[in-house]
Amino acid sequence: MSEHLTVVDHPLVQHKLTLMRDKGTSTASFRQLLREITLLLAYEVTREMPLTTRHIETPMEEMDAPILAGKKLALVSILRAGNGMLDGVLELVPSARVGFVGLYRDEETLQPVQYYFKAPEGLKDRLVIAVDPMLATGNSSAAAIDLLKQAGATDIRFLCLLAAPEGVARMKEAHPDVKIVTAALDRELNSKGYIMPGLGDAGDRMFGTK
Ligand code: URA
Repeated sequence: MSEHLTVVDHPLVQHKLTLMRDKGTSTASFRQLLREITLLLAYEVTREMPLTTRHIETPMEEMDAPILAGKKLALVSILRAGNGMLDGVLELVPSARVGFVGLYRDEETLQPVQYYFKAPEGLKDRLVIAVDPMLATGNSSAAAIDLLKQAGATDIRFLCLLAAPEGVARMKEAHPDVKIVTAALDRELNSKGYIMPGLGDAGDRMFGTK
């Protein structure tokens, strides 16, 4: 995964994503599908976790077998839609610590403003995976990554479900060191900042708020 952007084109991911995009999909199914896709995306985003070896004995003979080197993971949800991606990653890496970043957009300056920030200890020694289903303008994502870097994070990945070209470009400019993993790169943003063709408002669809 040397590229800045990885699109996971696995058939199961693409199938589940189509079901999520469909406006007829229920809130319960949407949430379940997001959990399942996130688990599959988490497999990709953790691909470069360092390995070491452990000397073990199988029932047949001794061997030096690969095992995670012990670099700890911090999962950071960008509120509120990021919360829908937590369970999928935690299923794969149950010991991950979890943080939260809350940002809202100031209607006058149009800039993201922090209203909540809570991160696990020792960010600088962890692989930090920031999760937010929709990488749209990239403004709040870039601001969330700024906050994580200010808190000490140095090894960060960004995991999303859908990305817009505008958001990818913004992230590449602001944080070229942060690799992005997504299930699809959509066509564009509309004038209201929604991803097209997209899936609508991810938070509303997963929490049934609209
Ligand atoms: N956030 C969403 O939930 N949906 C979009 O299309 C863009 C941002």
